[in-house]
Amino acid sequence: MARSALLNVMVQAAMKAGRSLSRDFGEVQNLQVSMKGPGDYVSQADRKAEDILFTELSKARPGYAFLMEERGAIKGDDDQHRWIVDPLDGTTNFLHGIPIFSISIALERQGQIVAAVIYNPAMDELYTTERGGGAFMNDRRLRVAGRSKLTDCVIGCGVPHLGRGHHGNFLVELRNVMAEVSGVRRMGSAALDLAYVAAGRMDGFWETGLSAWDIAAGLLLIREAGGFVSDMDGGQDMLEAGSVVAGNEVIQRALLKAVKKPLSAR
Ligand code: IPD
Ligand code: CA
Ligand code: CA
Repeated sequence: MARSALLNVMVQAAMKAGRSLSRDFGEVQNLQVSMKGPGDYVSQADRKAEDILFTELSKARPGYAFLMEERGAIKGDDDQHRWIVDPLDGTTNFLHGIPIFSISIALERQGQIVAAVIYNPAMDELYTTERGGGAFMNDRRLRVAGRSKLTDCVIGCGVPHLGRGHHGNFLVELRNVMAEVSGVRRMGSAALDLAYVAAGRMDGFWETGLSAWDIAAGLLLIREAGGFVSDMDGGQDMLEAGSVVAGNEVIQRALLKAVKKPLSAR
């Protein structure tokens, strides 16, 4: 598969950061048995991966702005372009030695996401997309799943936890969705969740309380795989709202309706 120069830059950066995360993931697995656990080590791994991405991307495209999880917003001379980067999405999995984590890079041009890469180094799965050019995993073209009934669907979600999110609201959403689908999954990396929807592995996904770097890349991947995305109000402000509901055209609509169903309607 021939990639554009831009996508090549993004893939090279993701692979380099991925090699660093892979090395550290090996070590994390050894540290599980220590009483202190691998907490500090993982923060370092996260920062190291972000350093690599920052260095590689700024070298290849000087002046582009950044929004990164650890560094925050960094202004650039070029006000048309912004990288939105999560160097390690799925930190809790990484910390526990679960090989479901990813690097997520999106490029925004004039406020529109135009290219994206999501890489899971533990499984060597590389998701790439450019606006108008389709979505790929390694060299395979992606298409969202074609199921049209929620009852046949496996749906992914995010579960709030200690100190995060609105637990009561989530329980209502889950209660609504689980009553209508054939399975619910919680993978622990929002970027990969969206990639799995793009790949047709999961039929849909919803989560709230997210940050732009969790979802920017996955949103384009899903659209380019023929899927649909909205925020929890059915609008297109996913990055600002930090929420997403995804699926094919029919399932996205049905899932949004299920998620939003008030308790009294049951
Ligand atoms: C988290 C993951 C997780 C989602 C959380 C995110 P992190 O990102 O994407 O799946 O449920 O809301 O914060 O902290 O591992 O980069
Ligand atoms: Ca992260
Ligand atoms: Ca994240």
